Amino acid sequence: MKGLILSGGAGTRLRPITHTSAKQLVPVANKPILFYGIEDMVAAGITEIGIITGETGAEVREAVGDGSSFGAEITYIAQEEPLGLAHCVLIAKSFLGDDDFVMYLGDNMLQQGLEGFVSRFELDRAEAAAQRLDGAVADPSAQILLCEVSDPQRFGVAELDADGHVSKLVEKPEQPRSNLALVGVYLFTPAIHEAVEAIEPSERGELEITDAIQWLIDNGHRVRHDVLDGWWLDTGKKDPLLESNRRVLETIETRIDGEVDERSQIDGRVIVEAGARVIDSRIQGPAMIGPGTTVERSYVGPFTAVAEDCMLRDSEVEHSVILRRATIEGVPRLTDSLVGRDTQVRRSKQRPSGTRLMIGDDCSVDLE
Ligand code: G1P
Repeated sequence: MKGLILSGGAGTRLRPITHTSAKQLVPVANKPILFYGIEDMVAAGITEIGIITGETGAEVREAVGDGSSFGAEITYIAQEEPLGLAHCVLIAKSFLGDDDFVMYLGDNMLQQGLEGFVSRFELDRAEAAAQRLDGAVADPSAQILLCEVSDPQRFGVAELDADGHVSKLVEKPEQPRSNLALVGVYLFTPAIHEAVEAIEPSERGELEITDAIQWLIDNGHRVRHDVLDGWWLDTGKKDPLLESNRRVLETIETRIDGEVDERSQIDGRVIVEAGARVIDSRIQGPAMIGPGTTVERSYVGPFTAVAEDCMLRDSEVEHSVILRRATIEGVPRLTDSLVGRDTQVRRSKQRPSGTRLMIGDDCSVDLE
């Protein structure tokens, strides 16, 4: 079995961060989102992985390398234009060959790994083969993962028939017929190649994987499904990203490799990486302080991940993701925030007093 990870797309809903960086490389608990998907694949025994890249391909290649650090072998496949998820399968055809594969959207994060997902498919296939001796149960051609959500119109939505089988899939329906969203993790057999060649672009001009799976169903293929029991987040927006960060930080164990002076207090589960310094500060976990970061006369509250080489001074920060080399100084309370790389957030004594901004395009500032 091979893996196909989709790491293209414009990331419009995470601007301005994505003006300069791939959305799949935004860190969650100080690790790029994309790495979680690669690690899940390797843990499920999938080491031959293709990564589809778009405009940010160079950055993705630099971050992931040849895959050896993950125990994987990575092949990069460039998608010239974001023409849809099914288009990614189309251009990956020579990499995928005649193998089954797991397709994983690089901005999705899920609690459960992929092992169970893959093994249930294999089991179903083995059972179908056994039953074929006396009946006619077709092998499953694909497997999808569904999750009950409160806002299905934002996703691909599945309808089940009276027997509980997937009968219809619609991409972002205005009037969803169920609350079962398609999670961005799919398992395909080579049958999908015929489907992605047969479908037409959708109204948004993309070849939708949802339509390709519907094509399989309409053409007599069996598509099996699993309903997810753990959490799943499509991290492409700020709030789900902060929520992913919270979910992952909830699982960390305390590790203090950096310096914490005697005036500082650490409560709860906290990681202070080597080379980080915590001076006269309080850190209330779960929280992470990246390597080379200094926290001085500050409070870092729960669900905060501060990346490497940042400076927090005379400030209070909680429930936030701070990217590398950011400076936060004299800010009494920063919350629910995503702060980009090399950013400075400062309270100055400059007169006349006022809020002085130098912010880029597509930013959002929510003043107290
Ligand atoms: C894509 C799929 C959609 C799926 C979602 C999961 O949507 O088209 O069916 O539910 O990923 O994250 P997109 O993020 O491209 O809008």
